[in-house]
Amino acid sequence: MNSIPETRDNVRALYWRDASLNILDQRQLPSTITYHRYQTATQVSDAIRTMQVRGAPAIGIAAAYGVVLAARQRHGENPQTWRAALEPDLAELARSRPTAVNLCWALERMRQVIDTLDDSDPCPALLAAAQGIHDADVAANQQMGRLGAALLEDTRGILTHCNTGSLATGGFGTALGVVRTAYSSGVRNLYATETRPWLQGARLTVWELEQDGIAATLIADSAAACLMRQGQVQWVIVGADRIAANGDTANKIGTYALAVAARHHGVRFMVVAPTATIDWNTPAGNAIEIEERAGSELLPEYYQREDSLIRAWNPVFDVTPHELIDAIVTERGVVLNPARESLSSLR
Ligand code: MRU
Repeated sequence: MNSIPETRDNVRALYWRDASLNILDQRQLPSTITYHRYQTATQVSDAIRTMQVRGAPAIGIAAAYGVVLAARQRHGENPQTWRAALEPDLAELARSRPTAVNLCWALERMRQVIDTLDDSDPCPALLAAAQGIHDADVAANQQMGRLGAALLEDTRGILTHCNTGSLATGGFGTALGVVRTAYSSGVRNLYATETRPWLQGARLTVWELEQDGIAATLIADSAAACLMRQGQVQWVIVGADRIAANGDTANKIGTYALAVAARHHGVRFMVVAPTATIDWNTPAGNAIEIEERAGSELLPEYYQREDSLIRAWNPVFDVTPHELIDAIVTERGVVLNPARESLSSLR
């Protein structure tokens, strides 16, 4: 494998600088690049809830930095009671989005550090922990890129869904990390779904690829089965927000439909996610809470009037049963035909 993937990774969703968390406002992409500078945990919770930052690993990392900001504030208010005063901040961060388990995973990691601290300034230790989570995510993504790309023998075309790249992670990306790595080893036909209704594919994925000099083709979500039928793609590669202990995978709405279509057409289906995305406490996909967002994210403005008879149902994730998944790729290894037994080897 050559070293192109590491060099083609120019975009960052968030970074820590000058005692602040800087978050790229993804609602404004691709037309405007604006980083907001945040100094409180409430601002970070709002940024997650309103999807300025999104993608399972990225919201976990943002929440970890949010804990640093909260601890600085609470310790400044009272060095004796800061730990108890921090609890509502942790709860607020945990509530900001429900489906991606990475958020609570990162908060739990930060809580483990908090439990070791005394009344002196907690910020250096907590910042080191948040940066550690951030750096480990990038390293995991690069490892998954290598492991996932190694499965792509005889692959000419790949379809990906949503945005799972540097914008959705600490950097490099999960599924999009595999796509980057495949591209640099010669797979040139890269397709991205538009990903309605929030358009993560159209606004984020193809923008991010273009920033890194990678050519790709955007398709309407509804063109995916047709693309498969024409034999243009051999793999569908997606990320995950939560993987249950049996391998059932919650990911962006539309993932399930892609997996059904892929199986019908003999196209293989890969899920790429760090082990932080596996929720060992959730036995199967039917126990995963699926976020429903406001109908206004889906309804054309015309129907948003008070007297309209039209409502929207807007679940933003769905669950793909493990039987439809050919491979789950993590930084600890690849599980083929995932099921409860085989996945537990990653524990
Ligand atoms: O609603 P979003 O944009 O946060 O949803 C993102 C996804 O569904 C991604 O596929 C998932 O978080 C994996 S990101 C590496």
